[in-house]
Amino acid sequence: MKALVLSGGSGTRLRPFSYSMPKQLIPVVNKPVLEHVLDNITALGVTDIGIIVGERADEIRDALGDGAQLGARLTYIHQDAPLGLAHCVRLARTFLGDDDFIMYLGDNMLPGGIKDIAARFTAERPAAQVVVHQVPDPRAFGVAELAADDDTVVRLVEKPEHPGSDLALIGVYLFTPAIHEAVAAIEPSPRGELEITDAIQWLVTHGAEVKAARYTGYWKDTGRAQDVLECNRRLLAELTTHIAGDVDATSELIGPVVIGTGARIVRSRITGPVVIGAGTLIEDSHIGPDTSIGDNCVLRASRLVDSIVMNGASIVQIPGLTGSLIGRAATIGPSDHDQAHHRLVVGDHTHVEVAA
Ligand code: TTP
Repeated sequence: MKALVLSGGSGTRLRPFSYSMPKQLIPVVNKPVLEHVLDNITALGVTDIGIIVGERADEIRDALGDGAQLGARLTYIHQDAPLGLAHCVRLARTFLGDDDFIMYLGDNMLPGGIKDIAARFTAERPAAQVVVHQVPDPRAFGVAELAADDDTVVRLVEKPEHPGSDLALIGVYLFTPAIHEAVAAIEPSPRGELEITDAIQWLVTHGAEVKAARYTGYWKDTGRAQDVLECNRRLLAELTTHIAGDVDATSELIGPVVIGTGARIVRSRITGPVVIGAGTLIEDSHIGPDTSIGDNCVLRASRLVDSIVMNGASIVQIPGLTGSLIGRAATIGPSDHDQAHHRLVVGDHTHVEVAA
């Protein structure tokens, strides 16, 4: 079995981050979403992994290299434009050969793992197996309608106005080589993409066996900032304490806290779950709960809750930051010249909420 991880796309919902980084590298508990994805795949013993990359290919290559560090062998496959999930399968035809494969969206988090789901596919080997998750309002998703007596998919509908079930397709699919004929046969949808739901529906229509496996654990498509923060909170809840850096005698650590190598905590209170990256300085601050701070950041005289701060950012004299996602090397602090006013230099599509 091989794997195909989709890590192109445009990431419009995650602007402004997606202007400067591929959204799949956004950190959750200080580890890029894409690495969480690859961990779930290598945990199945699948190591031959193709990665679809788009215009931000270089950054993904820089982060993952040839995959050896993750116990995988990565093959990068370039997609010129995000023409759809089924387009990715077409592009990967040579890499995939005639192997079965797992297709995994590079921005989807399934921390419960997919071992049972993959084992079921291997045992039953239908032409395709989709993964479904019960959601309260399925209208924003691809929806699977199943046979009354078993998990055979009888119909797939993309974003239905009147859903025939509450089972949303989530970002993991298992395919036999039968999918290649289907992706070759379909036409672009009205939104101009080659839809994987259309390809799977093509299999159903042509009499192939398509099964649904239910994933009942926590699942998140990290497509928007609030999803990333929610997912971070959820994974932080599993944190166990590990202190590598320095904590001075006047600082206090409460609950599960991870402090990276070379990090320094000075006159501060850390209320876990909190993870603090290598080389970061926390001074005269109160951090947490539910917060991840990357490597080489500086937080001084600040109070930060329920947030993600990425590598190299600096936050000084900000007493009430909450629910925030702070990008790499961002600086937030008092004005050097004008103490009476706020001065903002914010990028396109940035979202700023200030206390009234
Ligand atoms: P989406 O999140 O559905 O699409 P997107 O990345 O364009 O984001 P937005 O809607 O915010 O603009 O894509 C799901 C995953 O699949 C994501 O990891 C990107 C990847 N993808 C590709 O690699 N190629 C594609 O053609 C598409 C559509 C998505």
